[in-house]
Amino acid sequence: MHREQPQMTLPAQLPKALLDWYDAGARVLPWRSDPQPYHVWLSEIMLQQTRVEAATPYFERFLRELPTIADLAAAPEEQLLKLWEGLGYYNRVRNLQKAARVVVDQYGGQLPASFDALLSLPGIGRYSAGAIASIAFGIPVPAVAGNVRRVISRVIESDEPISREETRRRMAAALSALLPKERPGDFNQALMELGAMVCLPNGAPRCERCPLNGFCLAHLHGSVDRFPCKEAKKERRREQRTIFVLLQDGRVGIRRRPARGLLRGLWELPGEEGFLDEAQAQNWLAAQGFSPTGPLRPLGPAKHIFTHLEWQMQGWVVPVTGAGALCFVTPEQLAEEYCLPSAFRAYADRIPNLIRGVFDV
Ligand code: ADE
Repeated sequence: MHREQPQMTLPAQLPKALLDWYDAGARVLPWRSDPQPYHVWLSEIMLQQTRVEAATPYFERFLRELPTIADLAAAPEEQLLKLWEGLGYYNRVRNLQKAARVVVDQYGGQLPASFDALLSLPGIGRYSAGAIASIAFGIPVPAVAGNVRRVISRVIESDEPISREETRRRMAAALSALLPKERPGDFNQALMELGAMVCLPNGAPRCERCPLNGFCLAHLHGSVDRFPCKEAKKERRREQRTIFVLLQDGRVGIRRRPARGLLRGLWELPGEEGFLDEAQAQNWLAAQGFSPTGPLRPLGPAKHIFTHLEWQMQGWVVPVTGAGALCFVTPEQLAEEYCLPSAFRAYADRIPNLIRGVFDV
């Protein structure tokens, strides 16, 4: 049977307390001082996964290379991937370009000033549409980011799991009811800011400096560490992989990943499922059309965590002859022209040394 929950309500003091705090000390961020729609859009997509400090240099470089939505729409994919290298979730930048093309074709190169029109663009969900609509266009809609859900769940001691769409919807309705119509963008950003700077996710939140501490129920009841309520996460699948750093004439072998699935279409150091011992690694090399011209040396373990998957890696480095199906590139080309995802960083960072014959770092 479906049980109707009573409407969620938030304390009436919240908007003023929050905005006063925001006005007194909000961070100065590049997309805040000049909230052009394109800039706000780009920042929101980058900030879905990354903290402000990490995103800012990416944001600035992206806009230097692609200063307008039309530039983004026309950029070669390789350039886009390079600009996103290290941020992860490469489909986000592909969607950004798809949306830019729609914006050029249907809206004359300017983002539409409408929540529903924004929501219909590739890669823009309810959160991003709310953020862009409110920050760039002053449209009074909420933007219920993960940080915002945490703040709200603590303020009202909500035991609704914050990962549920139903919870997001109910929080959006509660926020809509008290969103200040003349400052929706600042209100939304202030909530996100509070979640990022004060109402922290892991470890102790800084309640002593929180503008909501006079009426936050979790703070008043000393229950902050019990909120937000989370549903048990599914365990991440673990996969073991062997990564090869194949060297030839001062170059390293890379290949493109398949057009479907994890890290689709991106470049990678070649690898194989499972942990291959030395004899198995020799067989793998032969099967790929390579002959070692020196010893195989182990590169030690590395790990990379994706959303639903963990790669446990071991590596081999070996000088080879033979072309196989790899593309051999210099470390400089790899750094400047190819997008190699962070999953390979532990080994990729060592390539210049490995080429110089330094194996023991
Ligand atoms: N996280 C996502 N968007 C943000 C914004 N505009 N300000 C602060 N943190 C954010």
